[in-house]
Amino acid sequence: MKIVLLITAAALVLIAVKWAFLPGRRLRRHRVRHQRIRLRLRLHPGKGHATIAELWWRWGRLAMNRSSRRTRPALTGRLLTPARQKSVLAGRSHYRHALRLPLDEHAVIFSPPRGGKTGWLARVILHYPGPVLSTTTKHDMYELTAAVRARKGPLHVFNPQGIGAVASTFRWNPLEGCEEPAVAIRRADAFAYSVSQKGVEDGSFWAAKASDYLRGYFHAAAIARLDLRHVAQWVSGGRPGEAEDILSTAPGAARYLADQLAEMRGESNKTISTVRMTMSRSLAFLADPALAASVLPEDGESLDIPSFLRETGTLYLIAETRGEDAPVAPLFACLASEIHYTAALAGSLLLGGRLDPPLLMALDEVTQICPVPVPSWLADSGGKGIQIITVAHGEAQLRGRWGANGARIIMDTSGAKIWLPGISDTDTLNAASALCGETPMKETRTLFEHHRDQHDPYDRHPIMTPDMIRQLPARYALIVRGGMSPVIARLPMAWTDSAYKHARRAGHAATNRAVSERAVQEWEAPPRRSAWSAEHARPDAIPPSASWDDPGRYPWQ
Ligand SMILES: Nc1ncnc2c1ncn2[C@@H]1O[C@H](COP(=O)(O)OP(=O)(O)OP(=O)(O)O)[C@@H](O)[C@H]1O
Ligand SMILES: [Mg+2]
Repeated sequence: MKIVLLITAAALVLIAVKWAFLPGRRLRRHRVRHQRIRLRLRLHPGKGHATIAELWWRWGRLAMNRSSRRTRPALTGRLLTPARQKSVLAGRSHYRHALRLPLDEHAVIFSPPRGGKTGWLARVILHYPGPVLSTTTKHDMYELTAAVRARKGPLHVFNPQGIGAVASTFRWNPLEGCEEPAVAIRRADAFAYSVSQKGVEDGSFWAAKASDYLRGYFHAAAIARLDLRHVAQWVSGGRPGEAEDILSTAPGAARYLADQLAEMRGESNKTISTVRMTMSRSLAFLADPALAASVLPEDGESLDIPSFLRETGTLYLIAETRGEDAPVAPLFACLASEIHYTAALAGSLLLGGRLDPPLLMALDEVTQICPVPVPSWLADSGGKGIQIITVAHGEAQLRGRWGANGARIIMDTSGAKIWLPGISDTDTLNAASALCGETPMKETRTLFEHHRDQHDPYDRHPIMTPDMIRQLPARYALIVRGGMSPVIARLPMAWTDSAYKHARRAGHAATNRAVSERAVQEWEAPPRRSAWSAEHARPDAIPPSASWDDPGRYPWQ
């Protein structure tokens, strides 16, 4: 009897061990439930997913040491440097194996609202070895990361709407430097292309036209030491001919931009009104005096982008959406473009031709608040020392902003694609399932179903069906990277991170209570933007009127 019991116990143990460590090739009847149980037990999720050897060789510390030779030339040969200096921890897969991403691999993350994307991105930012640009619609990212990031370098906040009572630390004038035509062209492009052309036929044509004229206005205003409100006035048809006059008379002005502005007079009414509409939408935020204040810095109030990059700073761009887009979206897009440009330029002068440590552009809610040309950036940023993480609710959101081609390019050029549970967009789920591929699995049949003449029992089945992706346990995600097998990982969240907890315990990280208390105080005692001087907190919407005939009104006169 004892022996029978022993044999039974041993057999049960063997069956359990086999179930746990040798995922069979059998197709389970309840795949979703079966997978969830295995994931909760931190076991291999099933056939077709990455093996331990693959995790070790392609996702582990060793792989990151190999990749750091190109991503961190300054650390070459320093094998004992912590892995977080050379990689980003994306999550932990079966048997708690760490999944690391090299610092030159972009990622795109899809998640429904409240899915945990900010928590994950904040965890990445906490330990990122280089400077970070973070875009967000709430102050949660700032609250989760500011205390820890402050130890690495200076914190910069640009929060023109005063969200969460987080004070802005600088203002930024997009006309700064536009005395150089190349700078004016870059800034005008950023403004014009950030206007959503949804539903507009031939949207990029109108954006290009708007950029053609804006660059002339920007250049003229910078040369005449005028500000962006003056440009808004020109755009709406006020002071006709003034910008052209400045460009044709000022010493050092690019005359061809005056010719370009002159072309405007020859355009048909319909064309000119559409172009004017695009330009005025990009500057619409100036109508709100409080937002206009954000582009009128006083001496020493501006952001020094090269030192932000050099000092491993962290820059938070915080804005909330009104309707589809945030009113300051063009301004944010212009600032982000400038940072991207400066980082690439600085990197080209460094060892390996890339920024070291790299710049992270953590683009949360990017489609609404910072509509930068992500598809074109993704194509070549990795080699310049700029890593981009794009966050979206689904592919439809990417298509809405960058069109079907742009969305395709984002998928093609993002090395790591991460899907969190709860997505209900079937296109996104089907694309994820198709990327995971198929594998032969043996169908389970009852005694009656099993006939000799039936087809091959090892049919090919999807490794992850759309419903398996949608129903992953909370805080888990499916990750597909390059040519590797799919992996399911448990994602680390910032609020479970020891650095965050430590900073919070030490009283550095603002608790939610402190934030709400501060918000209540601010609410009772306006004006809210205490970091800005009283004069600029309520600037005139339009600069004081002066006629072009005023002698000596411009610096060169
Ligand atoms: N500090 C925290 N501690 C514990 N749980 C948190 C914390 N902050 C958020 N959560 C939980 O995490 C979930 C949402 O996380 P997160 O804000 O990262 O999601 P999200 O996808 O960015 O959401 P949204 O779409 O609203 O931006 C919520 O269920 C929330 O309860
Ligand atoms: Mg969020």
